[in-house]
Amino acid sequence: GYGLSVFPPQRKDVDTAPTLAALAARAMDCRACALWQPASRTVFGEGPEYARIMLVGEQPGDQEDLQGRPFVGPAGQLLDRALQDAGLRRDQIYVTNAVKHFHFTWNGTRRLHHKPEAEHVAACHVWLDAERRLVRPALLVMLGATAAQSVLQQPVTISRTRSRLFPLEEQTQGLVTVHPSYLLRLRDEDSKQREYAHFVEDLRLAAHYVA
Ligand code: URA
Ligand code: SF4
Repeated sequence: GYGLSVFPPQRKDVDTAPTLAALAARAMDCRACALWQPASRTVFGEGPEYARIMLVGEQPGDQEDLQGRPFVGPAGQLLDRALQDAGLRRDQIYVTNAVKHFHFTWNGTRRLHHKPEAEHVAACHVWLDAERRLVRPALLVMLGATAAQSVLQQPVTISRTRSRLFPLEEQTQGLVTVHPSYLLRLRDEDSKQREYAHFVEDLRLAAHYVA
């Protein structure tokens, strides 16, 4: 069956997965970087294969790791609200992450989130590429620097790149914006509101791509 030949992922198994379901099944056994072991499970992308918009985040957090679905924790709730305010529905969108395992250390009884290292992002890139091949979205939205760097394969400064559409490949435009966790970290109420509004404006650009 699927999956057994995928530690580490063999390029041909990834490249020939005929559907997202087959690809996700193969990713469940991935051991291409060290993150698979302490985490509970691979959190693969989800959404319609025919989605016109694909959203790429950084990596699953604590809630995502436990539930096995992307963007279901606090950042996901903020994302859902912003999508709604931009006139989009989550079920119209394919949502995934640059890295598909939760990266954490224990702090007593709590699991502390860590950013993925460059080697994790590099190892996980094959899955993101395969998702892009199968979904072939009209618009690919990168949430934050990790997503943007993985997709664009170069260092990205969010402030200089965000809020404008650019050609990514034939039939796919790119759009860079902030990560919703950035909004959650803001302390000052004015900046929080202003930055949230800017995020929703970015997502409104995406709303034009829904057929
Ligand atoms: N942050 C992300 O980047 N992705 C998730 O799935 C959850 C939080
Ligand atoms: Fe594989 Fe990505 Fe998980 Fe690393 S983070 S083990 S590359 S699925």
